[in-house]
Amino acid sequence: MNATRRFGSLAHPPAWPLVGSLPYFNPPRVHLVLEAWAHRYGTPYRVHLARRWMLVIDDPAEIARILKARPGAFRRVRPVESIFRELGIAGIFSAEGADWERQRRMVMRAFDPAHLKGYFPALVSVTRRLLARFERASRAGEVLDLQLEFMRYTVDVTAGLAFGLDINTIEQGDNAIQRHLDQVFPMINRRMTAIFPWWRYVKLPADIALEKDLAQVRRAIDGYIAAARQRMADDPALRDQPGNLIEALLAARDTPDGGFTDADVSGNVFTALLAGEDTTANTLAWLACFLSDDKAAQAAAQREADAVLGGQRVLEAFERVGDLHYIEAATREAMRLKPVAPLLSHESNEPVTVCGIELRARTPIATLFRPAALNPELFPQPLAFRPQRWLGEEGGSDEAGAARRVLMPFGGGPRFCPGRYLAMLEIGMVTAMLMRNFHIERVGSEPVRERNALSMLPEGFRARLHLR
Ligand code: HEM
Repeated sequence: MNATRRFGSLAHPPAWPLVGSLPYFNPPRVHLVLEAWAHRYGTPYRVHLARRWMLVIDDPAEIARILKARPGAFRRVRPVESIFRELGIAGIFSAEGADWERQRRMVMRAFDPAHLKGYFPALVSVTRRLLARFERASRAGEVLDLQLEFMRYTVDVTAGLAFGLDINTIEQGDNAIQRHLDQVFPMINRRMTAIFPWWRYVKLPADIALEKDLAQVRRAIDGYIAAARQRMADDPALRDQPGNLIEALLAARDTPDGGFTDADVSGNVFTALLAGEDTTANTLAWLACFLSDDKAAQAAAQREADAVLGGQRVLEAFERVGDLHYIEAATREAMRLKPVAPLLSHESNEPVTVCGIELRARTPIATLFRPAALNPELFPQPLAFRPQRWLGEEGGSDEAGAARRVLMPFGGGPRFCPGRYLAMLEIGMVTAMLMRNFHIERVGSEPVRERNALSMLPEGFRARLHLR
């Protein structure tokens, strides 16, 4: 694309001396602020971030081009790398350049679909455990915060896959790792959107609490690493055929040319826990929220779950996951309306042209995903929850094709989310179990709000489950 506009000529929201537009960045709602500005000023626009100007874009083709050109021409914004390193969570999410390439190769091995098939029986038993928990809650008439319930499920699943250990946070509701991770998400989010890195100069009570939470999670992770080392000592064949992420990373760590350190092992284990937990749980929570509000969609999902699960209460056959067409369509529709990662932040490594605008090296770029997802030309009635638009009904196959190109809920290019098959599998398993066994009833009439705590969740969504 040829350069047609100067960066300095783009519209921008009000900017204060020294701090620019940062005072408007309320961390839990920052995505809504940037989306509202996109609406008001048009895109691309620019935002003054204290010392630098950031470009904000929403054109899916340009976003895809940026995501594809990593790790060369673009990188995640620098604070991701420094903040994650300070917190001892340095893994593939925050790594850059050759360091990222080296780590990505290792981590991808643990997430390939064949490995997921081997893990399926464990997934079935964690799903049964969630069913038992929901049955008890249903009989007791308990009002549930489903987002929290799903977080326990996703921690158990990720830990099982990554560590080969059953940590069972579903039944031990007050599990240490769960409690501490809950605190870590919002604090990382606050640091990522901070005007000034205060924690490097003075520790506020919240920073001291964060350090304690991190130390607890790290201690737990060290325990998992020690357990995996023991398993590998007892069974040396695991070096060649590691059974899970931690074993694969340890095997790499122990080869002379693996280029892996102890810190890489624990950083990537922590990263998998963080990246796999809230994203999947929040997507599940949004989907449950939509199904509870839309009785017809809930009934359609229930009919499908009845047909696919038959006499079973939890899906036990890996081959049948692909038959959950309606539930998959409803998941895609929930991700279109409520992408749990509504934006990504990058910066250029070199002078580049984006949306026809010449940018200097190190210019931050925020990519907004939702404006394209709500484009009425691509999605008729864009604000409506309509799973059928993904099913080729209503002559909608063109719509589904267009949608696949503009929606990027799992990112794109060489850094696309390595956990997406696992995430879709978890969402399918949990939703099929819910629909086969329960009606979801939304409790309370206050509107559910979007809250960004590293990923975006439905604040205020409470529900009762009624056994069918
Ligand atoms: C619905 C659930 C999920 C969503 C919506 C999601 C979304 C994303 C997005 C948008 C990215 C950034 C991709 C990019 O930069 O192009 C990402 C990266 C990542 N995700 Fe996920 N994710 C989900 C589940 C998971 C799970 C279950 C895991 C692992 C257990 C996981 C692990 C990761 C990792 C390690 C990265 C960093 C990849 C890299 O930088 O190379 N995610 N995810």
